[in-house]
Formats: sequence, C-alpha cells, structure tokens
Amino acid sequence: MKIAILPGDGIGPEIVAEAVKVLRALALPLEMETAPVGGAAYEAAGHPLPEATLRLAQQADAVLFGAVGDWKFDTLPRPLRPEQAILGLRQALGLFANFRPAICYPQLTHASSLKPELVAGLDILIIRELTGDIYFGQPRGRRSAPDGAFAGAEEAFDTMRYSRPEIERIARVAFEAARQRRGKVTSVDKANVLETFQFWKDIVTEVHRDYPDVELEHMYVDNAAMQLVKAPKKFDVVVTGNMFGDILSDEAAMLTGSIGMLPSASLNERGQGLYEPSHGSAPDIAGKGIANPLATILSAAMMLRFSLQQPEAAERIEAAVQKVLADGLRTADIASEGCTIVGTAAMGDAVVRALR
Ligand code: IPM
Ligand code: MG
Repeated sequence: MKIAILPGDGIGPEIVAEAVKVLRALALPLEMETAPVGGAAYEAAGHPLPEATLRLAQQADAVLFGAVGDWKFDTLPRPLRPEQAILGLRQALGLFANFRPAICYPQLTHASSLKPELVAGLDILIIRELTGDIYFGQPRGRRSAPDGAFAGAEEAFDTMRYSRPEIERIARVAFEAARQRRGKVTSVDKANVLETFQFWKDIVTEVHRDYPDVELEHMYVDNAAMQLVKAPKKFDVVVTGNMFGDILSDEAAMLTGSIGMLPSASLNERGQGLYEPSHGSAPDIAGKGIANPLATILSAAMMLRFSLQQPEAAERIEAAVQKVLADGLRTADIASEGCTIVGTAAMGDAVVRALR
C-alpha cells in the first residue's frame, strides 16, 4: 500500500508528522513517500504542484495531505499560488466526492459557540462536489487587462457550470452514504436564482427515483446556512456544489467547536483518495508546536478505511483518539477547564500510546 505524504505549508508539516507517527505504529506494510506541495514547493521548485509531486500522488493508493497557503504568497500570479496545488490535485486525480463530516465529540460539546443542547450528539456529513461548479468553470478572467493583472481591468468573471454526469454521480454518492446513516439527504441549491442549480435540483430529483428508501429534501443555500445554526441536528447528509459546499462545510465544522478535530476525504471513481484535515494551514501558529494533529490523524484513519481497506486499523486509531480525549488531554484550540494542555508532538505520542 503506497501513500504519498504531502505536508505543505504552515502547520502542515507538524500535523502530518504526527499522523505518520501513528501510521507507523500500526505495523502495516505501508510504503510512504514525502513530496513538497503548495508554497513550500513553490519555494523549493518554482511551482506549487511540481511534476514529481503530481506523479507521486497519481501512482499512490492514497494521498495524505497537510494544508497549503500562506499570506506571503498572496501577491503571486494565480497559477503559482499555493491553493493551485490542492485544486490541481483534485482535478488531475478526478477527486469529485468530498466527504466532510461534522461531529460534535461529547468531551468537546462546550467548545461550540452554540448552546450545548443544540450540538450535543451532532453528526452530519457534508458531501461537497469538488471538481465542477464555478471553481472550474470556463471562461474565467478579466477584461481589458493582461492575465494576472488587476490594474486597469474593467470587469472580472468566473462561470458556474455543471454537467448532467457530474451531478448524477455526486447524487448517487450522497444517497449511498445516507443509506449507511440515518437515511436522509438534503440537497442544497439556489434554484430560485441560478440556472445551474435548477438543473442540479432536477437531476438530484431524477436520481432519487433509484433510492426510494432515502428521504430527499431540497433547500436553498441561504436557508441551509440559517438552519445549520438554528437546528443542525435536523440534517443527516447534505449534498451540494463546490462553492456552497466550501462555505457550508466551514460553517458546519465550527458548530462542533473543534475544527482541529475534523478529517476529510476526497475520492475519485476508482476509490483513490486524498485525505486532509478540514482546517487550513494556520500560518499564525506554524512552528510553535501547538497545532492540533487530531484532524490529520483522523484523516489517516479515513484513508485506511476508504482507500486501503483496513477498517480495523481505522477503528483502532479512532478509539485511540477517543481514549486520549477521555484521559483529558487537549491541545490549546480545544482546551477546557480541568484538562491537560499538550503540544502537537505530545498529542501524537499519546495517540500512539493509546493505540498500543
Ligand atoms: C477548502 C479550501 C480550498 C477550497 C482552498 C484552499 C482552495 O478552502 O478545501 O475548503 O476553496 O476548496
Ligand atoms: Mg474551504
């Protein structure tokens, strides 16, 4: 089983190191190879997604990804910015299905900014379409200014588009996932305004005919944003496009009070996947040894389950994380009274000990 390890920028290298530690402790035949990505790759090789990094990712069974981005790269032309690395990987590997669970851990209920009774026991799954929509629409650009230059531009545009097969396959992923859960799908759109999302709604409704055992509801994105903070537990699986999914998944993650805890998986049609924490590169705390590695460690567990067919190993990691939390260990981001605050490496070591 071959894993490409892409640590990236900011806290990426620190948190990925802890996940690698945990993977090694499993004593499975895992072959891991590391390559630079994002701003780190731009500095080392002049491109955020160097040829060699892309090849490594393509040849691996799975990719474990840290995070990319740093303000210091904000002035680079768009094709050289760190974010292009993750967008390029999604596109090149065809990672169309993005799973972003938002789970409120019992020990962390009080870390949420919502009232504990609203979020206690929360377990929702956002399924974000990841390779279409306005993120990858053509044409895009600016008029009356050279590409890459804002100065002198009269207008800028990006186009929103979805094809029938793109919507059909993500709808199927959502209905299948709901079957393994509480049997409800909320499809989020903006059909009242946008053609693209009237099309989305119609096709999701069509695909639903094959899943009569699953309940389907449609919701406009503005209402969904409101319902997520009003009554988040009414959701089970939320399926939506790339742009709305980007926004709603951050909102849902924060409901749990523990964005440092949430893993994610991005899968293609062959079951190959990229696994990364739901949070970003947090350059403000990089290098301080205080970042929470648990989202990345839990992403490694998702990788074992979805791409490497090692469900027992995945469960062992998840149980170890539960134990460490039950023992009262916390990184600063999820600290609460009476708990022991530990740094990144100590948290990784604790998970390894719990695993054993
Ligand atoms: C995410 C991030 C990315 C996105 C950025 C870094 C390109 O916000 O994974 O949610 O917008 O998809
Ligand atoms: Mg985002």
